[in-house]
Amino acid sequence: MLTNAIIAESASEFTTDVCSGLTKPDQKELPSKYLYDQVGSRLFEVICELPEYGLTRADERLLRLHATEIVERVPGQVVVAELGSGSGKKTRWILEALSRHRPTSYYPIEISATALAMCERELADIDSISIVGFEHEYLDGLLKVAARHQDGQRILVLSLGSTIGNFDHPADVSFLREMRLILQPGDALLLGTDLQKPILQLIEAYDDPLGVTAAFNLNLLARINRELDADFVLEQFEHVAKFSSVTRSIEMHLRSRQDQVVTIHKTGLSVPILENETNWTESCHKYSPQEVVSMAEDAGFRCDAQWIDHEWPFAENLLMAE
Ligand code: TRP
Repeated sequence: MLTNAIIAESASEFTTDVCSGLTKPDQKELPSKYLYDQVGSRLFEVICELPEYGLTRADERLLRLHATEIVERVPGQVVVAELGSGSGKKTRWILEALSRHRPTSYYPIEISATALAMCERELADIDSISIVGFEHEYLDGLLKVAARHQDGQRILVLSLGSTIGNFDHPADVSFLREMRLILQPGDALLLGTDLQKPILQLIEAYDDPLGVTAAFNLNLLARINRELDADFVLEQFEHVAKFSSVTRSIEMHLRSRQDQVVTIHKTGLSVPILENETNWTESCHKYSPQEVVSMAEDAGFRCDAQWIDHEWPFAENLLMAE
């Protein structure tokens, strides 16, 4: 499954993305998918345990409470494709509910080899499921799953956590539409969406007092140092989480504490960075329940059911391809 060719190719893609992101004329950007190397994946696991970050626990609560009903709404032989499996802990509820009555194939799709390995270890003990991991981008992986599946089987795509919210609007609708084009009528998508909540609560969730989220974000610079032989001095940057009421998103940045020049020695690129200038690493949009239903319809899905956690407003949405 993991070939040297795939790894070599993504290393050069990392170089290209970092260089083009750092030389953007207005807002410098570093793609969030690169946060999850070995160190980043471990730090993210810790974020999910933090009292301030209720998102993962809400997601897991909903899946634990409603897994049986969710899988009953997708009858017949089911192939599960998960976009960004993470550690695989939350997926257990769905896979156990499914495999109780039918043999199930599970295809986690991840660009992080570390996350893929964690997830395969976590779920290996469930009886009557076969696991095949794909180290790919989400849509490429989904195309591979669609090509493998047999007539009469339905695909159930899982996009848990807040993945969809990390696409800026309208890229979220386009992403759903591209997914819909790969699927057939009768296939389904279980989509996790974080919902609107008080701004202070959001800021604490994305800038926790222990500093784990700050370390997670700063690790992206450390990763560029490690892998591309750059000379970012981490102390000269700070993690910033701010809420934009225009886009209703929480935005993560790395702000420079002073004027400085950073060199990526692997490519010879030197980048001047001004005091207070930021590198934007991620946004996470906070939806309203109705907004999810209309976004799904715009993309060619019908919202079959929606389950909401009220302790930490979050929704699990079962969308049917029509
Ligand atoms: N995408 C996740 C979210 O928006 C992951 C995340 C949590 C994150 N904290 C972060 C990404 C801080 C970047 C920086 O909830």
